[in-house]
Amino acid sequence: MAPARLLIFVLGAALPFLLFHAEAGEMGVNYGRVADDLPDPAAVSQLLKDNGITMVRIYNGDAGVLNALANTGIKVSVMVPNEDLADVARDPSVALDWVRNHVAAFLPATKINVISVGNEVFESRPDLNLQLVPAMTNVHSALVQLGLADAVKVTTPVAFNAVTDSSPPSSGRFRDDIAQSVMKPMLEFLLLTGSFLSMNIYPFFAYLNQIPGTISLDFALGNPNSGFTDESTRLVYHSLLDAQLDATYYAQEKLLGSNAIVPTSDTECGWSNGGKCSLRLEGRVGCGAASIANAQAYNNNLINRILSGNTGTPHRPDADMDAYIFALFNENGKGSGPDDIERHFGLFYPNMTKVYEFDFQHPGPSPVPPAASWCVANAAVGEDRLQAALDFACGHGADCSGIQPGAVCFEPNTRLAHASYAVNSYYQNQGRASGTCDFAGAAFVVFQEPAEICDPNASWCVANAEVGDDRLQAALDWACGHGADCGPIQPGASCFEPNTRVAHASYAFNSYYQRNHRASGTCDFAGAGTVVFKAPKIGNCVLPWRAVIEETTSMSNGSYASI
Ligand SMILES: *[C@@H]1O[C@H](CO)[C@@H](O)[C@H](O)[C@H]1NC(C)=O
Ligand SMILES: *[C@@H]1O[C@H](CO)[C@@H](O)[C@H](O)[C@H]1NC(C)=O
Ligand SMILES: *[C@@H]1O[C@H](CO)[C@@H](O)[C@H](O)[C@H]1NC(C)=O
Repeated sequence: MAPARLLIFVLGAALPFLLFHAEAGEMGVNYGRVADDLPDPAAVSQLLKDNGITMVRIYNGDAGVLNALANTGIKVSVMVPNEDLADVARDPSVALDWVRNHVAAFLPATKINVISVGNEVFESRPDLNLQLVPAMTNVHSALVQLGLADAVKVTTPVAFNAVTDSSPPSSGRFRDDIAQSVMKPMLEFLLLTGSFLSMNIYPFFAYLNQIPGTISLDFALGNPNSGFTDESTRLVYHSLLDAQLDATYYAQEKLLGSNAIVPTSDTECGWSNGGKCSLRLEGRVGCGAASIANAQAYNNNLINRILSGNTGTPHRPDADMDAYIFALFNENGKGSGPDDIERHFGLFYPNMTKVYEFDFQHPGPSPVPPAASWCVANAAVGEDRLQAALDFACGHGADCSGIQPGAVCFEPNTRLAHASYAVNSYYQNQGRASGTCDFAGAAFVVFQEPAEICDPNASWCVANAEVGDDRLQAALDWACGHGADCGPIQPGASCFEPNTRVAHASYAFNSYYQRNHRASGTCDFAGAGTVVFKAPKIGNCVLPWRAVIEETTSMSNGSYASI
């Protein structure tokens, strides 16, 4: 979580539009040490620095490692091992000693910012489930007592199969055995202490363990792909990580209500670069997917996505997210033999050679399109700053022809409307990149299409009631049979009401028209259709425009596997 928004206000009007990256998430790595051939911590610390890696997680509070990371500026997440959990939960003084010895003793030289209390407790030590939140509470109280509670956040890594019914995402919920007893108080604790939910989400394992044919490799890797639709929300997913994250957000909402949401980090994720499935996993569809090429694709997609600021999901487009790749090294003590995929998650070989190319310092563009969003001007900054934003946008590539006198979007002729038009055009032209909708505070991003932004090209296709029900029905049948999306006008769906022939025909005609990119002649329907240039009102049903609806496959029902 990286709140870094305030800087630009200080610069004020003199240097108004230095574009800066405010929303980008942060990327880290997991420094696992289940191996007998790894370099010493000092060499590892240098390796992290050389590669511009700014966050690292370790699986204990090892003094040698913490000393080696001193004065590097690297943020460090330490962990209370599961073995200590029961004592830490039972006795606040044990928690205090742990925090003194493994955290306070190294601050501020070593920038410890997170304490994980236990590791995947529901998986590895379910006998400790009920001790988890008391242990977290005791660790937090120890931090308060030592004056460190602002600098250091307390969380606990949760394996993804705590979430069940995760496909489609909107059905996601926490498992019954932990939902009310552990997850609810834990989420409340995380909210209260300004911390975050730490999920270990591995699209690799969900792909590996899938029901054959339900998950494509590109979807799992985060490569460009045609997407899958959650039929109950109509949201389209282009990445399995997004689907798993949203299942987690929906699960949270079922416990906390839809407004409270705990920031969520993917604290362990990665893709195996080689080896074979162990006996435990043998025969699964995805066993062949462990390869250097796939690991490189997955991890680079993740790095580019997070560092370019594309941290939201279809359901929570404005969510922030950090992620930690598992793992820094191939670890020869993991799994059940030299060939086990579990030994091949490293970004580096133990000799510190990269397994494949990746770059934390110069991320490329996000491979998955960011959620649809718009940039609107902020009336509160006053006319002068709106004018400055307008001038800057029009001078730097925004298409401002539509707001010239006489053009379609000249009215309403207000500075606010023109500024919104211009900053949004600039933002869309910049590919909605992080930091391109700030304008020194004169604009902000929204995720619902704003009515106030005029689209000079917008048009819709609606049905003419005058042609009579028979001709409307014939045209409606034709449109639905020729590529219009008629799902939303089925009984129970979002545009079934108003249940009239003219309303249903308008929906279908417009869908056909938009899907054909509003080409001339695609709103005729033998005289039953008409193009209109103002958004039509049909009850509560909104006729889609601008975005062409994508052809996608529905998500299957079930749960994504986590290991
Ligand atoms: C490091 O180890 C890998 C894997 O064993 C090997 O392919 C590579 O050549 C080694 N690099 C160096 C510089 O020794
Ligand atoms: C409107 O259409 C023209 C011509 O197709 C295109 O160049 C322009 O980018 C469009 N403007 C917007 C805001 O979509
Ligand atoms: C998924 O579950 C929903 C709700 O239970 C059901 O209506 C739908 O038919 C199921 N879809 C599949 C592909 O099984």
